[in-house]
Amino acid sequence: MKNKRKIGVLIGSLRKESYSRKVAESLRALAPENMELEFIAIDALEMFNQDFDDEGTVPESWVRFRDLVKQMDAFLFVTPEYNRSIPAVMKNALDVGSRPYGYNAWDGKPGAVVGVSPGTIGAFGANHILRQSLVFLNVPAMQQPEAYVANAATLHDEHGELILESTREFFRSFLNSFSTWIDTILNNCRAPRLFICQRMVPGCAP
Ligand SMILES: Cc1cc2nc3c(=O)[nH]c(=O)nc-3n(C[C@H](O)[C@H](O)[C@H](O)COP(=O)(O)O)c2cc1C
Repeated sequence: MKNKRKIGVLIGSLRKESYSRKVAESLRALAPENMELEFIAIDALEMFNQDFDDEGTVPESWVRFRDLVKQMDAFLFVTPEYNRSIPAVMKNALDVGSRPYGYNAWDGKPGAVVGVSPGTIGAFGANHILRQSLVFLNVPAMQQPEAYVANAATLHDEHGELILESTREFFRSFLNSFSTWIDTILNNCRAPRLFICQRMVPGCAP
């Protein structure tokens, strides 16, 4: 298949029965032929500590993770909301992939965000807080459609299959839009590396 894209999927929950993971699995199953969704594990990443990079004691888990991130064409972030923000494991993964300074593994690759919650707001807060980091990491995030997956405990049957055709339809259309977004970014423009902070404030290291 021409232009088959490798999409790294990061899931912001480590819980065995995670709704976010179930949603990610459904998205993987519904992905169009030109997308290959690969789950990237983030549970074993040591907590970010700049000393590891500065002192050359980089953990093996970081090396593998950074290499894997670099191999991907795009990223799908599927995350629950913890206390109106993103879970620490997700933030840690973003930070580990972003360093050492000047070697941001996410740089210029398109992304999409799916918030998942058993509540009614669909992890809106987490979705947007994640987007804030993506701005700085230079991951152009798809704007529309947005995905705030609410009432997540009611979406799947006991075999992990989506119950409603309307959910399946939404996921399909989300993935099709993401595919178009990926092509737009990767074919037409590598997202410019604009560090406005650096430009406006001489000597400012972002
Ligand atoms: C520490 C903590 C904080 C939470 N904060 C929120 C929150 O701000 N918004 C929300 O919708 N759900 C919140 N929840 C409930 C989660 O949405 C729920 O536990 C969900 O199942 C977690 O996602 P998962 O099923 O993918 O593990 C919180 C849960 C935990 C453990």
